[in-house]
Order: sequence, then structure tokens, then C-alpha cells
Amino acid sequence: MSDSVNVEPSGPLRGELRVPGDKSISHRALICNALAEGEAQITGLLDSADCRSTIACLRQWGVEFKETGDRLIVRSPGQSAFHPAADTLDCGNSGTSIRLLTGVAAGLPFRSDFDGDASLRQRPMRRVLDPLAQMGASVSDANTAPYWVDGSNETLQGFNGEIAVASAQVKSCIVFAALRANQPSRIVEPGPSRDHTERMLIAMGADIEVDGPAISVRPGATLQPQDVQVPGDVSAAAFWMIAAAMVPGSEILLPNVGVNPRRTGVIDVLRDMGAQIDLTNQREMSGEPVADIVVRGSQLRSTVIDGDTVVRAVDEIPALAVAAALAGGVTEIRDAAELRVKESDRIATTSALLQAMGIQIDEWSDGMRIFGGNLRGATVDSHGDHRLAMAAAVAALAADPESGPTTINGASAVDISYPTFWQDLHQLRHVPV
Ligand code: S3P
Repeated sequence: MSDSVNVEPSGPLRGELRVPGDKSISHRALICNALAEGEAQITGLLDSADCRSTIACLRQWGVEFKETGDRLIVRSPGQSAFHPAADTLDCGNSGTSIRLLTGVAAGLPFRSDFDGDASLRQRPMRRVLDPLAQMGASVSDANTAPYWVDGSNETLQGFNGEIAVASAQVKSCIVFAALRANQPSRIVEPGPSRDHTERMLIAMGADIEVDGPAISVRPGATLQPQDVQVPGDVSAAAFWMIAAAMVPGSEILLPNVGVNPRRTGVIDVLRDMGAQIDLTNQREMSGEPVADIVVRGSQLRSTVIDGDTVVRAVDEIPALAVAAALAGGVTEIRDAAELRVKESDRIATTSALLQAMGIQIDEWSDGMRIFGGNLRGATVDSHGDHRLAMAAAVAALAADPESGPTTINGASAVDISYPTFWQDLHQLRHVPV
């Protein structure tokens, strides 16, 4: 079967679209409820390959999941009653699954073996294994998956210090281990990474205090199962926000999107580029801020994306680079070396995508300079990276109508975080203008 999609340049986008559930919050709703003894219901869970990886791993430890209608029931014996997995814990493509579950494994009195697909096997894992070893867990000396973690010596100490990278995956891994340590921990993060883990665990009764960049975890509290309503994923909404923002005449409504301030760097950057974005009906859902987002198209201007904004927009940089490609002027993206160790090397793959579509790029080790111009239809590749496939689709929609369609190879990569992406694209572009 062909794994290519052709996307024609589009006129303005119009209409209303509900994006799927937030991937990060979905993983945490599954994992945090698995740690607690009892039953919880999750609604709006993202049904994608990455979340299925988390479910499959937790099942191996003895957690039960049952789908009923639009909700998933998690029934767990609690972390203390997990049993050893019969097999290697296969995390597929999912960095969040492997890094968060590695922290859980450090608090289990047996060995757990982890692995993933070819992309995950290339991603750096010392960033989670080193702090766990520092806490006293036995870990293999591999730099990448496959690797193992063994918490059976039952002497996990507290973690005290600053994490080496601003990463919610690393932070969450250490927090999960810290819940099972025999001393309190104080974890300091170097940048404002997403805080869904802290929010959810606090709501479940964990003894966690957050003071600016410092997270204090006191082990011993009993976690209570917590029903979770997962809001729409701002990282999925970002593709439509960008596609609409850069085509004058567009107007779209994205209801029910999570707008946690540590995830909304994309909105700040787009506004800085002159986009018209309104957040309406702001409210809270399961401890997370949520809003309906209205985006109107306009001519965008160049900007600089750096520092903490990169942390708050880390998954949106490829799509923001597409917006920059069409904006007037020269945009610079700096402090973004982390992009090199995502599902693909996103500095290289985003540069290749835009260059194939006729844009001039200077690539640096930690970012790129994008010379705004005209996007032209081309044949491009997702490199197996879901966010690259979707960024390519946004670029294809905004391409010069004279230049023809864009062929995106490796289009099924969207299954990782947004399985209905191609249908949704069809829907937004076919709403009558
Ligand atoms: C995620 C954290 C981010 C992000 C990833 C999801 C999470 O990774 O890129 O898509 O759910 O914790 P890092 O923590 O490595 O920055």
C-alpha cells in the first residue's frame, strides 16, 4: 500500500474542528492512575499509537484497561502490587512512554527491560538513566534503548539537584521515582517544561510542592484514582492554527483545546508574527486550563524564537518554521538543540522540507535562519516523524497555487499522535468559503 498523500494548495481555511485529546495528558492519565490502587475513568483520551504503547506496557505490569463507549476505565492493583512484565516493554516510537515508565520501573522491586522502534533506539536515554542511578537504582550502562532498570535493592534515595535539560520527560521520570524513594527529593528544572505530571499527581494526593523551578516531592502519600477529562491537544491544534494564521481570509474555530501556559509558546510566537488569535470560553478541565481558539488569517512577519519560548513550543517548531517560510523577512530559531534528538533530527528534517519547497535556510547546530519567500509544491518525506508529516501538509496547503500539489511520503506517521489528521485536513479545506 502506498504511504503517500498528495496535498493541493488551498484557499483560506474555514470552519470548526475538534482536535483529538492531548497526547501528554493522555499518557499521564494512564500512568498516574496505574500507580493508584482502584478504578478511574478517562474521557477524551488520545487513541493513537503512542498512547497504545503506554497501555501495552502498563498491562504487562498487571494494570487492566477496558473501553466502554467514549471512555477508558483503568483498574489497577496499585504500583506496590505490579508484577514483573513477561516480556520486554516495547514503547514503539514513544519517548514519553519509555522515559516516564523508566521512572516508574525504578520504584519496582524487579528488573524491567525497555525497547522501542528504530527511531526511539537512537534517542538519548542517559538523561533518565543517570539520575535514576544517582538515586540508587540499578540501570544498564546503555546510552540508548534497549536497556533495563532494576529497583529491587529497595534503597531508592531522594534526588537533589538541577536536571541537565529542560525536559518534561526527564522531570516526570525523576518525579515518579521520587514518589517511591526513602527520602524527600528536590528537583530543579532549567526551563519551564510542561507540568502535567505535577498537576495530576497533586490532584491525586501526592505530597508535591512546586515553587518556581523547584519541585519538592515527599514520598509516602497514598495516591487516589482520579477521573480525567483530557482536553484537545494544543500541539495538534497548532497545525490548523498555523495553516489558518498564514492564509489571509481564513477563519477557524478550535473548541476545547488545552492552553496550559507551558504549552502555549506557539500562540505567543504566532501573535508576535502578527497572527490574530483569540482565546474564548476559558475554563478549567481536570486541573488544566482549556479554551476555544479562534484564528483569523493575515500576512505574517518574521520573528526570533529562542530561550524559554522554545521549551514552551518545543513540538511546534517545525510547523512554526513553515509559518516563517511564508512570512515577510528573516526568522531566526535559536537555543533549539533539543530538536536534534526528537522523533527525527527536526532541525535537519525541517530544513530539508522547506528547502525542497524552495525556501532558503541556514542551518545551525541549535537552530536555523529562514528566509521568508514563496513555498512551491514538491515531493517531500516525513522521515517517519509525525510532526514533520503534518508540518509538510501545512506547507503544502500554503504553497503557491501555480506550483501544484505536494506529495508527502511516509504520511502514515501521523498515526503516532493524530490518526485522523488527513480526514481533518480534508474537512477544513472543503468547508465552503
Ligand atoms: C513530552 C515532552 C517533550 C515533548 C514530547 C512530549 C511529554 O519532550 O517534545 O513530545 O509528554 O512529556 P521533552 O521532555 O524531551 O522535551
